[in-house]
Amino acid sequence: MNQSLQSLANLYAEHNGKVSDKWSSYLTLYESELKHVRTTARSILEIGVQNGGSLEIWAKYFPAAQSIVGCDVNPKCANLVYADPRIHIVVGDATQPAVCQQVAMLADGFDVIVEDGSHIPREVILAFLRYWPHVKAGGVFIAEDLHCDYFPSHEGAISRRDIANRFFAELVHVINLEHWVGTTAISTLLREFALPDVVDHAGLAGSIASISFHNSIAIIRKASAPSDGLLGSRVIVGEEAIADAQVLALRSAGGDSLGVMRAPSTPDAGASSFASLFTRR
Ligand SMILES: C[S@@+](CC[C@H](N)C(=O)[O-])C[C@H]1O[C@@H](n2cnc3c(N)ncnc32)[C@H](O)[C@@H]1O
Repeated sequence: MNQSLQSLANLYAEHNGKVSDKWSSYLTLYESELKHVRTTARSILEIGVQNGGSLEIWAKYFPAAQSIVGCDVNPKCANLVYADPRIHIVVGDATQPAVCQQVAMLADGFDVIVEDGSHIPREVILAFLRYWPHVKAGGVFIAEDLHCDYFPSHEGAISRRDIANRFFAELVHVINLEHWVGTTAISTLLREFALPDVVDHAGLAGSIASISFHNSIAIIRKASAPSDGLLGSRVIVGEEAIADAQVLALRSAGGDSLGVMRAPSTPDAGASSFASLFTRR
């Protein structure tokens, strides 16, 4: 097998350069979750570099990568030296706007962002909000080590409403936005997370294709186009409808019009009729 297409677990097993520290379940998860971008990804960002080994391994894992950026707040990371000119280190707090800007300048958007920094829930959320605009269409943002959500040492607890897992879970409503748009605002939906001004709520709309949860990991996938996440037109086929013939009337009304995103003019007004368009009998 071509060296560049070895499994991530193999690359880790064989690695003998700078140290990287990841949980074994992540390696198998990434293998399945990143295969769609593995041979095409041009730019990778990892927030939290520590000893720098993961950047060396990403460089081997993604054969087409041109820019592999690591960002770490630890000034000692400035001493990391790579023979591979594709690897860049930015030293600074990734959640700060100036650092984000510096990182963003090193690539034309990122196919994959791995957030492996402080694991403090509010910083994980802030990192997502800062860097999400820099995820390319069809790319992914991966938040690692979300078990820290439950640790007081990381300002977490299962009882807290503002932990990162809950934030990402709340974003499922953004995926389903077409069904409640106009009834409330995204900012209201996310008010429990005390988000700073950085948040471009409108920008989140239509941008999230999927969110998957795994042990200690959330993977947020960006839509390839804003229309990707829409329910689409209603597909009603067949001629016999012996239990409920009304479904045929919906077909004659035109499937397309039933699938088109349409917001009620004012919050709450028309919400129920809007919702009824999408309710299957
Ligand atoms: C778990 S280690 C990263 C391990 C590395 N990703 C790997 O796979 O080997 C976490 C790193 O995040 C860094 N860090 C913590 N808060 C940060 C922040 N706000 N911005 C950037 N880096 C941060 C720490 O200095 C530490 O080196």
